[in-house]
Amino acid sequence: MLEELSVTWRWGGPPTLLTISHRPPKPAVPAILASGVDGHTPLDLLAHWIDQCRRHRGIANTQRDLGVDAVAVSGEIDGQHIGYAMDRNGREYLVRGQRHGAERRCTSGTDAAARTRLPGLLTERLAELVWRLAGPPPPAAGSRIRDMWPTAGLIDLDEDELHERYALPSPTGDHVRLVTVSSIDGLAAVNGASTALTSSGDQRVYRLVKRDADLLLLGAGTIRAEQYGQTALSAPEIARRRANGLPPYPAVAVVTRSLDLDLSGPLFQRSIGGHRQSRPILIVPAAAAAKSRAAVAEAAELLVAGDQDVDLNQAVQMLRQRGHRRIVCEGGPSLAGQLARADLLDEVCVTITPQLLAVAGPRITAGPAGLPAGGQWQLHRSLLDEQGNLFLRYTRPGPSDRQVG
Ligand SMILES: NC(=O)c1ccc[n+]([C@@H]2O[C@H](COP(=O)([O-])OP(=O)(O)OC[C@H]3O[C@@H](n4cnc5c(N)ncnc54)[C@H](OP(=O)(O)O)[C@@H]3O)[C@@H](O)[C@H]2O)c1
Repeated sequence: MLEELSVTWRWGGPPTLLTISHRPPKPAVPAILASGVDGHTPLDLLAHWIDQCRRHRGIANTQRDLGVDAVAVSGEIDGQHIGYAMDRNGREYLVRGQRHGAERRCTSGTDAAARTRLPGLLTERLAELVWRLAGPPPPAAGSRIRDMWPTAGLIDLDEDELHERYALPSPTGDHVRLVTVSSIDGLAAVNGASTALTSSGDQRVYRLVKRDADLLLLGAGTIRAEQYGQTALSAPEIARRRANGLPPYPAVAVVTRSLDLDLSGPLFQRSIGGHRQSRPILIVPAAAAAKSRAAVAEAAELLVAGDQDVDLNQAVQMLRQRGHRRIVCEGGPSLAGQLARADLLDEVCVTITPQLLAVAGPRITAGPAGLPAGGQWQLHRSLLDEQGNLFLRYTRPGPSDRQVG
């Protein structure tokens, strides 16, 4: 990990692009990748190199082979000279100097750019270049994941390989994915929350699945139980979403009848990691919409589907009409059960954690007594992490529009 960045510059000189490798005994060794021509800005230089990388994958792979850990750009922005670096985890480093005096600051953290008012575009471009030249970050401790089925083999999948294992059948087609976690004995929550079931490997897979999502769909019970709000994505993760034509964060939609939600809770925060977020969508039946308070209508967008209960077929249709085609449902059991019974799920991604809890609690779906939901599922892929979490990806066989690539 980088501790600090020092950059030498010449006032009025062209911007410079540097790659930084972590090679003992020297902790950080910057090497000049390119020196821009006079008159070009750091933004132009970054744009040029992103273009080069998009066209010639070879450049990116060569740099990755050289072991790039971070990329830095230096030059003049808005009348001040900056040195700005980002590492593979999306951590930012800033060195700022002034013509007179020797102010030198070094900051780190994903909101460094926001604090120092660097243009958002600079952060986004640097993030894309970091991802293309330096590659994915190393997995967190305990979260190395390997292929199990249909082919066993690769033992340490990187972010891009793992993402490929969760590729959608069509990058733009309609798709509803349930993402869930369960103990060996089928429990979906312990003491009212799923926190005890999740792990660093589970979070890794969840973030990858989220990378392709237009919208996250949840039941209000989960929002209340988990005090749900979106976790911040790293700058390279956002860059990957952008490169995929998506906004920095997926939209969030919540199904509710009672509208009993904490309007000051994390779900209603309008900014995540410095990125402005659209208001959450509350999907309600007509009966609830009629009684909704002004405060709710102001904090969220209301989408009416059904009369007394939300009609999920209608709701999913309406979301698609708004362009939310790739939907990730995060549960909980009541919502997931209804989606299953309405035959609205194309895929189930379930993590089985190696825990045998032997207490009462919800399963990953809930439903009424009586006839079970129909439909056969087939295992599409399975993966395993070093802590023994099993990642299973199930899809529906049958019509071509259900098949997954
Ligand atoms: N293991 C996992 O992967 C996982 C994932 C998510 C959640 N969980 C756990 O599951 C538990 C919550 O379970 P849950 O079944 O209550 O969660 P849920 O499905 O998230 O929420 C149920 C609530 O959603 C609303 N709702 C669902 N269907 C509706 C419909 N057709 N029309 C109108 N409103 C509808 C209602 O909200 P109102 O009451 O507001 O009307 C209902 O009370 C928590 O302990 C949570 O930690 C586990």
